[in-house]
Amino acid sequence: MEFVDLRSDTVTKPTAAMRKAMAEAEVGDDVFEEDPTVNLLQERVAELLGKEASLFVPSGTMANQISIRTHTVPGDEVIIEADSHPVLSEVAAAAALSGVQFRTIHGRRGILTAEQVAEAVRIPDIHRPVSRLVCLENTHNFGGGTIYPLEEIWRIREVADRFGLAMHLDGARLLNACVATGIPPSEYARPFDSVSLCLSKGLGAPVGSMIAGSKEFIARARKNRKMFGGGMRQVGILAAAGLYALEHHVERLAEDHFHARLLAEALAELPGIRLDPREVETNIVIIDISPSGMDPREAQKRLRELGVLVLPFGKGRLRAVTHLDVDREGIQRAIHAFRRVFC
Ligand SMILES: Cc1ncc(COP(=O)(O)O)c(C=O)c1O
Repeated sequence: MEFVDLRSDTVTKPTAAMRKAMAEAEVGDDVFEEDPTVNLLQERVAELLGKEASLFVPSGTMANQISIRTHTVPGDEVIIEADSHPVLSEVAAAAALSGVQFRTIHGRRGILTAEQVAEAVRIPDIHRPVSRLVCLENTHNFGGGTIYPLEEIWRIREVADRFGLAMHLDGARLLNACVATGIPPSEYARPFDSVSLCLSKGLGAPVGSMIAGSKEFIARARKNRKMFGGGMRQVGILAAAGLYALEHHVERLAEDHFHARLLAEALAELPGIRLDPREVETNIVIIDISPSGMDPREAQKRLRELGVLVLPFGKGRLRAVTHLDVDREGIQRAIHAFRRVFC
């Protein structure tokens, strides 16, 4: 059976044209900074995000963790949303690899306010950790692909400046936010000292994330990348996929957002499901199935039998993510399967 795979936007396979670009890429040793394709990708992304420099790394997790390590010293505290990716899904790496503590705050669908951040900053005291860094996530994955309002980010920046904190953006899906709002990536990146961006999510590359920041920050991040085992060699074959994705797969993210909305609107009609389609801002649909009384694992299994893959997403919830490899027909198949399970 051919599945409609809505588990994540990471499941996409490189297209034939992307594979061709990869096969033809010029390469060199990137630890020596001699890979021309990696260098080009790094220049392009720095320009896209309006920063002085950028760095190619293997994964979104490594991008966040190198950034945290580069901003902090052991014993520091990081102010971060409670359901953000580094808190829930990076295996406590910030504690293990950087020796920092997270001060977690619950946002509304992942979005923090400046007041919440200000309240979380530690007063200088012999007993307290030093507040050093604020991490935000745009779009917010566990919040349901939520877009951060730019005005709120600037208000948080004011708080950060007042207390001398750095700011990092987990922008794994930043370009989804940009396509949905029309706000250029450089505008969204401007309030931050460092920004990560994933090439392997909605953009459809098989591997790779970027970190952007000042030249000085990226030089230190490069050293930390080596320490974390992320120094790569003839990796232009992967950077070529990233360059291809940035050229061909950004504008089309609007299609994924449209598909997510279609799916959400149809599912909102079903009796066993609670969902407000207006909350679906990008390509992630969080489906509250608690009215059905069905266990998410059971729902996952039944949908799978009908050819649709989704993920259980906490108590009473499923997650569906639209992407490059799901077309309109796939969405219709998914809607049909949900109707059979939940009607
Ligand atoms: C918001 C966010 N940040 C970071 C990551 C980590 O990316 P990777 O799986 O490439 O480590 C993910 C992965 O889904 C994510 O959703």
